[in-house]
Amino acid sequence: MLVLGFQGSPRKKGNTSFLLSTFMQAVEKLGAQTRIIEVAQKNIIPCKEYVVCERKGYCPIDDDIKTEIYPLIRQAEIVVLASPIFFFNMTAQLKAVVDRCQLFWARKYKLRLTDPAKKTKRGFLLSVGASKGKSLFEGLQLTAKYFFDAIDARFEGSLTYREIEGPKDMTKHPEVLADVEKAAADLIGPLLDRKKILFACRENACRSQMAGAFAQYLAGDKFEVLNGGSEPADQVNPDMAKAMHEKGIDMAYRVPQSIESAISDTTPDFIVTMGCGEECPFVPGAQMLDWDLPDPAGKPPDFMRQVRDDIENRVYKLIQKLV
Ligand SMILES: Cc1cc2nc3c(=O)[nH]c(=O)nc-3n(C[C@H](O)[C@H](O)[C@H](O)COP(=O)(O)O)c2cc1C
Repeated sequence: MLVLGFQGSPRKKGNTSFLLSTFMQAVEKLGAQTRIIEVAQKNIIPCKEYVVCERKGYCPIDDDIKTEIYPLIRQAEIVVLASPIFFFNMTAQLKAVVDRCQLFWARKYKLRLTDPAKKTKRGFLLSVGASKGKSLFEGLQLTAKYFFDAIDARFEGSLTYREIEGPKDMTKHPEVLADVEKAAADLIGPLLDRKKILFACRENACRSQMAGAFAQYLAGDKFEVLNGGSEPADQVNPDMAKAMHEKGIDMAYRVPQSIESAISDTTPDFIVTMGCGEECPFVPGAQMLDWDLPDPAGKPPDFMRQVRDDIENRVYKLIQKLV
């Protein structure tokens, strides 16, 4: 399970950085994988309102958002926004990330597509500000609420601290460690006990992607879904993505990965293989299942649809059996 954190302050070792890294250490201790994006260090171009995302579902701007951040937002089950208050909201650097996520808003509300991880995707907010005004975090809370909705994440809560100004003020806060440990446990606790299921094929571009997405969509709250390929492709199969879009499931910005990297930090309880041949993984103790499914890559759209529906059916039955 990946927890993705956005460190929105331009101060490298300031209050927000301390708060976010303390939070990430707490979720790691509980068993999650983490990744922090230092937003001010990235090449992020603010939204230019080309509106291509609303018409065509993608953003034409080439920068780190497109190559790195969109895929990470898709991969993460938990997304944490962390920012100091700058004029009653988040920093401009972090706001640029949020605005570029209009792409996800457009895919959800204009193209009517759903992130397969929607069932478990969660958002959390961390913030600090110098003053003690009652409404200090209101603007930020509202922006965060609509950001999390756009990325199909449920806004779970926030930790916010007033009267934090000098770069080390947060480290001296008497309650922060206890607050963070409790919030981290509340946030990821319900996801920790899930059984892990790995879907593996050759390229992780088509069959195992579809199986993984259906499993997440149908039962992501009961199973942590992993997928990988023995020879991972550079990108998911665009015909597969089209076939899944017909079902309302959004496969954009998913990235094929190797079987080794899918299970490098975790041990699956169940493994379903579909065409990885000699390279299929063996994990001692895991229950194995092999599905005899033809590779639909390069075949006509109807063939892709047939394999898609077959996979959906098999995943549905498997879940019924395992829960
Ligand atoms: C441009 C700018 C705008 C700020 N606006 C506010 C504000 O509206 N309200 C407030 O309480 N603090 C404001 N602050 C203070 C910061 O929120 C505060 O110093 C915070 O602790 C900085 O966190 P950091 O160390 O993570 O950067 C502002 C600071 C800057 C540089």
